[in-house]
Amino acid sequence: MLKTYIEIDNITKSYKQGDELVGVLNNFSMTLNEGDFLSITGPSGSGKTTLLNILGLIDNFDFGDIRHFGKNTKDLHETEKNKIRMNSLGFVYQSNNLFDEFNAVENVALPLILSGKNRKDSYQESESMLIDFGLGHRLKHTPKDLSGGEQQRVAIARALINKPDVVIADEPTGNLDKATSKNVFQYFLNYLEKNSCAVVMATHNLELAGLANKKLELNTLNE
Ligand SMILES: Nc1ncnc2c1ncn2[C@@H]1O[C@H](COP(=O)(O)OP(=O)(O)OP(=O)(O)O)[C@@H](O)[C@H]1O
Ligand SMILES: [Mg+2]
Repeated sequence: MLKTYIEIDNITKSYKQGDELVGVLNNFSMTLNEGDFLSITGPSGSGKTTLLNILGLIDNFDFGDIRHFGKNTKDLHETEKNKIRMNSLGFVYQSNNLFDEFNAVENVALPLILSGKNRKDSYQESESMLIDFGLGHRLKHTPKDLSGGEQQRVAIARALINKPDVVIADEPTGNLDKATSKNVFQYFLNYLEKNSCAVVMATHNLELAGLANKKLELNTLNE
């Protein structure tokens, strides 16, 4: 039996913008299972990032329910949510959010160190992952000395280093050229093939979205 990693039931989410309430998700449900590579597409403002933030326990919602690994996580304390985020989820953002003052190895090793692993082992693991990602010659470079595609690969390595069950990627190829986007996308596919996990990826790139095995298209509400 395939494991269910994340389920959301009838979620409604709106934001207050001045005096107005802007609806983003309305009675929205979905399930993410082991082996899923789910692409999320839809126009700008349709709620892709909002949905990813809900799946990643970063944002709250107004109504509905959410479960991670069978456990209701809607009303969990922030410390508990943090634990799930740190142990089971990996995030890649459009702007890669790397730490400018850290080099590639240090950036990738951070989640390991934060989860209690000693520095020496963390750096070693991080180095070997970066070598797998074709960045063996860039280990000591800080983000400003890396190309966009290299930075994005470091960000993906950082998201995967803790072997998360669910990888949440918000336009991970947003700033990359076509060939580099495909290449970066391939790292997710490889990770998915080698691990029992799931990947959720928001993207404007319809060609890449089409390669996913589950597809979701969001529409803008109220238009
Ligand atoms: N913190 C916030 N406060 C108020 N409104 C917000 C907030 N975050 C998002 N919104 C609104 O919610 C809607 C959905 O935003 P979201 O960022 O999820 O869209 P998106 O599909 O990720 O768009 P894009 O493709 O441009 O990244 C937009 O109308 C946006 O203006
Ligand atoms: Mg977005």
